[in-house]
Amino acid sequence: MTDLKNYIETHKQLFLDELFSFLRIPSVSAKPEHKEDMTKACLFLQEKIKKAGADICEIHTTKGHPIVYGEKMIDPKKPTVLVYGHYDVQPPEPLELWKSKPFEPEIRNERIYARGADDDKGQLFMHIIAFEYLNKTNQLPCNVKFMFEGEEEIGSSNLDEFCKKNKEKLKCDIILVSDTAMLGQDIPSITVGLRGLAYMEVEVVGPCRDLHSGHYGGAVANPANVLAKLIASLTDSDNRITIPGFYDDVLNLSEDERVELNKAPFDMEEFKNEIKIKEIQGEKGYTTKERIGVRPSLDVNGMWSGYIGEGAKTVLPSKAGAKISMRLVPNQDPEKIAKLFEKHFLSIAPNTVTVNVQPHHGGNGFVAPTDTIAYKAASKAFEATYGKKPIPVRGGGSIPIISLFEKELGAKSILMGFGLESDAIHSPNESYTLYNFYKGIETIPYFYKFYAEMMK
Ligand code: BES
Ligand code: MN
Ligand code: MN
Repeated sequence: MTDLKNYIETHKQLFLDELFSFLRIPSVSAKPEHKEDMTKACLFLQEKIKKAGADICEIHTTKGHPIVYGEKMIDPKKPTVLVYGHYDVQPPEPLELWKSKPFEPEIRNERIYARGADDDKGQLFMHIIAFEYLNKTNQLPCNVKFMFEGEEEIGSSNLDEFCKKNKEKLKCDIILVSDTAMLGQDIPSITVGLRGLAYMEVEVVGPCRDLHSGHYGGAVANPANVLAKLIASLTDSDNRITIPGFYDDVLNLSEDERVELNKAPFDMEEFKNEIKIKEIQGEKGYTTKERIGVRPSLDVNGMWSGYIGEGAKTVLPSKAGAKISMRLVPNQDPEKIAKLFEKHFLSIAPNTVTVNVQPHHGGNGFVAPTDTIAYKAASKAFEATYGKKPIPVRGGGSIPIISLFEKELGAKSILMGFGLESDAIHSPNESYTLYNFYKGIETIPYFYKFYAEMMK
């Protein structure tokens, strides 16, 4: 790569300034009051992609937030890489826990602090800069298409339709995504699996109004108590999920696969220290890495009921609710799991209360082989810049649209993530290391180079 290191070195501050402008736009997809900011983020990307040298750069409106599409076709006979990313971010709350404001990016201890610094604004931005470099230096070895959406964090429901309607436009040989993490600063990895997701909301309704807990306590079913019991019963003492049929479609790994999976470096003490927990927990018979990568899970994501203000208020709440996510493994069908959950949850509800169950967005898991050209090119690219062969890992998070890409566009994805666990995505004080921001910019051009060479 001619002059790549030097190019990065001389443009370092500019890249950062541009990224900061992008991070200042509060593109929170979940909140209606940020609708205009979503458009602003789109316009920002469109402008940047154009300046970087794309021939086409369009904004496609949807029923929800817009999609940015750009492309540079250098030769139809050359391979085409479609870069996918998302410009929407998670809500920044709780705000009081942020050291600096979520949408006023700041550098501290060699990290960029801002909501979206890693997930996924920082990571997608590296791709535009890498493309800009290849373009300006006349080294672009293949065709490039960009597709950035604003609804990943809320289920990608409109990208689904966009893909179905634009199969020809989105035609490509491989989809390149940086929206995952690597094992450690010096341990590059390629994500070869992601979990699926089924997300439910439940509500337990008791008396028609909040009651005096002295006048009524002990004589009326308390929705909060009932909900707590129902949720507690969803897992057993081995931390297995008790919903009948839940594990039916789970593919068990062979002994060899388990050994291979557990070879990836993992430091238990560091794992515990990083999140300040005393002890770990999980499904009996599996290692932590297996529990995250290849086993399903069930967790409460939020729970509400009764009085949670300061001091004590003696009240028996009329309602209680919870949001529950189930991380699934490839081959488990999110819709089927949602139905199993609903059936089971209604069946265990006592007749003293009314229970409502509502499914939210979900998505399929994903698993990719390592003997593909894309994997080999990505592996060589990491090796070129990090000096080490990356380790294939199965991640615990979800990017539901990836399995849809395969189904609708017939293209596989290669997940070259540059995040770190310590980036605290979705949490207060999300950050992205300057090191990986610049390393990512350096690594991506190598992927193009090796991929184009190997596809010949
Ligand atoms: N980038 C994450 C997914 C991720 C992060 C995968 C780190 C592997 C490692 C993505 O933006 C995300 O947060 N996905 C959601 C799913 C979505 C349906 C809300 C998730 O995993 O909770
Ligand atoms: Mn993401
Ligand atoms: Mn996310």
